[in-house]
Parts: sequence; structure tokens; C-alpha cells
Amino acid sequence: MDGDAVAESLALYAARHGDPAPAVYARLFARHPEAEALFLLDTGGHVRGQMLAVALEALLDGGERLAGLIGIERLNHANIGVPEALFDGFYALLMQTVRESLGPDWTPAMESGWRARLDALGLPA
Ligand code: HEM
Repeated sequence: MDGDAVAESLALYAARHGDPAPAVYARLFARHPEAEALFLLDTGGHVRGQMLAVALEALLDGGERLAGLIGIERLNHANIGVPEALFDGFYALLMQTVRESLGPDWTPAMESGWRARLDALGLPA
């Protein structure tokens, strides 16, 4: 099943590289340097870690929980100055981080699983 390939990609990432937070946020801040300022008060990285944990957990749950979280957080984030397009691109950035790190072990099922998940939410892949 597609969902399993998403979980599999994340499990493989964790087994190889551990916590994805450093790579995810390095990629985010390289692409969108303006986003770094939003986390200035997060000196210990707890908010970043928590945000990623919630985003990944919801991705794995899928379905209504994920759609609901995105709907709510898109608005919350707009209120703290995160433009919709930046917010919406976060899951694609996660996918790219995992894909790049797994290299040749990234499978076609992982690619289609991630894309199906993001497409279902109307998010860019
Ligand atoms: C590039 C896109 C994003 C940026 C720049 C961003 C930025 C932020 C910032 C600055 C905070 C801290 C807010 C505060 O001051 O308390 C935050 C918190 C949070 N974000 Fe994001 N966010 C992004 C995408 C997402 C996505 C896609 C999700 C989930 C669907 C998400 C879920 C959360 C959650 C749950 C928190 C609260 C974390 C906590 O418990 O402290 N964010 N985000």
C-alpha cells in the first residue's frame, strides 16, 4: 500500500540518519532564509522538533487528522507570518530531504506513495 511506503521511507531514514530535524531545517533555511527569523526564540530547537514530530505523525496517520491539522495550522501559521505557499511546501521539502538521503534506496513505491499523500491534500509534491 502507498501509505506503507511513506512509513517505510521514514523508518529507513531514521535507521540511517536518526532525527530528520537538522536536515529538514537546514534545507528549509537554505531555500527560504527569511523563515529562520521566525524561529529566533527557539534557541534549543524544541519548537522545531515538536513541529516536525507533529507534522510527521499526522502524515503517517493520514486521512482526516492530517487534512484537519493542515487546515488549522495553515491559518495559525498565516497569523505568525508564514505565507500559505511556504506552509504548503513543507511536506514536499520533507519528501525531498528523505529522497535525497536515501539515494538509491528510494523506491518508486516511495515516490508514488508520497505523491499520492500530498496530491490528496492538494499540496505540491
Ligand atoms: C515552511 C513551512 C513552515 C514554517 C516556516 C513554520 C513555522 C513555524 C513556527 C515559527 C512555529 C512556532 C510558532 C510559535 O511561535 O509558537 C511553528 C509551530 C508549529 N508548526 Fe509550523 N511551520 C511550517 C509548516 C508547518 C506544517 C506543514 C505543519 C503541520 C501540518 C506545522 C505545524 C506546526 C505545529 C503543530 C507547531 C506548534 C509546535 C509546538 O507545539 O510548539 N508547521 N511553525
